[in-house]
Amino acid sequence: MKYPEQVVEQFILQFGRAPEMLLVAPGRINLIGEHTDYTGGFVLPAAIDKAIYFAAARVETQTVACLAENLHEFFLADLISIQKHPLPWANFVLGVYDQLFQAGHVVGGIQMVMGGDIPVGSGLSSSAALESGVLHVLNALYQLNIPTLELVKMAQRCENTFIGLQCGIMDMFAAQMGQKNCAIQLDCRSLAYEYIPFESEKYTLLLCDSGVKHALADSEYNTRRNECEESLEKLQTRFPHLGSLRDLDAETLALAQDLLAEPLNRRCKHVVSENQRVLEASAALKSGDFVRFGQLLFQSHHSLQHDYAVSCPELDLLVATAQSLPGVLGARMMGGGFGGCSINLVEKTAFSTVEADLQAAYHEVYGKIPHCFGVSIESGVHSIPLNDTQTT
Ligand code: GLA
Repeated sequence: MKYPEQVVEQFILQFGRAPEMLLVAPGRINLIGEHTDYTGGFVLPAAIDKAIYFAAARVETQTVACLAENLHEFFLADLISIQKHPLPWANFVLGVYDQLFQAGHVVGGIQMVMGGDIPVGSGLSSSAALESGVLHVLNALYQLNIPTLELVKMAQRCENTFIGLQCGIMDMFAAQMGQKNCAIQLDCRSLAYEYIPFESEKYTLLLCDSGVKHALADSEYNTRRNECEESLEKLQTRFPHLGSLRDLDAETLALAQDLLAEPLNRRCKHVVSENQRVLEASAALKSGDFVRFGQLLFQSHHSLQHDYAVSCPELDLLVATAQSLPGVLGARMMGGGFGGCSINLVEKTAFSTVEADLQAAYHEVYGKIPHCFGVSIESGVHSIPLNDTQTT
């Protein structure tokens, strides 16, 4: 049975009635533009075919009753005074309510079943999908009429305040604004965006999940953010026109070597070069130059590994192996780093051999076979008509 039917059927079993709505919220990939969103830079993400599905209905009490069917976990919570919940995923639902209440919206209770196939901890932003999905469910059921861009910002605030992760806006933007077969070139400062078609007869994307998430991922993420802020403050003493690291260019950085002790200089070097690569990568896609696009992916990894220092030996092995294989145009670590997936641009005809070679190389060093899979680029959050499922 497919997920949409599964969550509807579970909803009927759990709550003894049909849901009022069904909605899908996708995970995301990022083609290029890593660790640039929180300094107002450029990113190039896309929503994918791995997603969370939600079946939901309103209730008359101020309560949330929610089943995560993959996890076989259920929680019931009071909305009168929202408290942190011991189940980690429940906090994404409660955090969304918290945001809506803070913004003054009148929202009632809900019964909900959710389930899907975004692997957790692989850097495909299952949390952004969850927050985004719940926001859109409540927006629709309670006719809040909040525009999508505002929902994107609310999802980020939920993560920053209720969950306590200082992430940027990229993941929520991709989950909510994605468009089929298009990457989104997003300016994270102005939120101006452009859809860039990502379609090819010849090439496809292969993700390889290292299966690790090193414990320092979250703390190093915050450290990098702080390093960026510290660099900006130092740079502003000489270049007061800099509003954020996004305004920095290579020439100005070269004139500021004495201001920035290592590792700050290398951190800035990554941000400047990565922003430039996003623009070049978009141009390459527009002109159908996948070879150039692939080279930029390798360069991005090199910069993330050496200048920004957010990779790890497992990801470096996957990317170095990919670089040695015929049929691979480009590869890099994807997302926050310190584990998760590598993203590879490969010739369709080479997919199986690349997969087998990556798995063999990884197995030889780490004794485990990493999961490799293809992804397609899909639309962002949207509802699915209930009569599209067989069970209703
Ligand atoms: C995580 C964050 C994003 C972004 C990436 C790195 O996925 O949630 O906001 O900063 O890391 O590009």
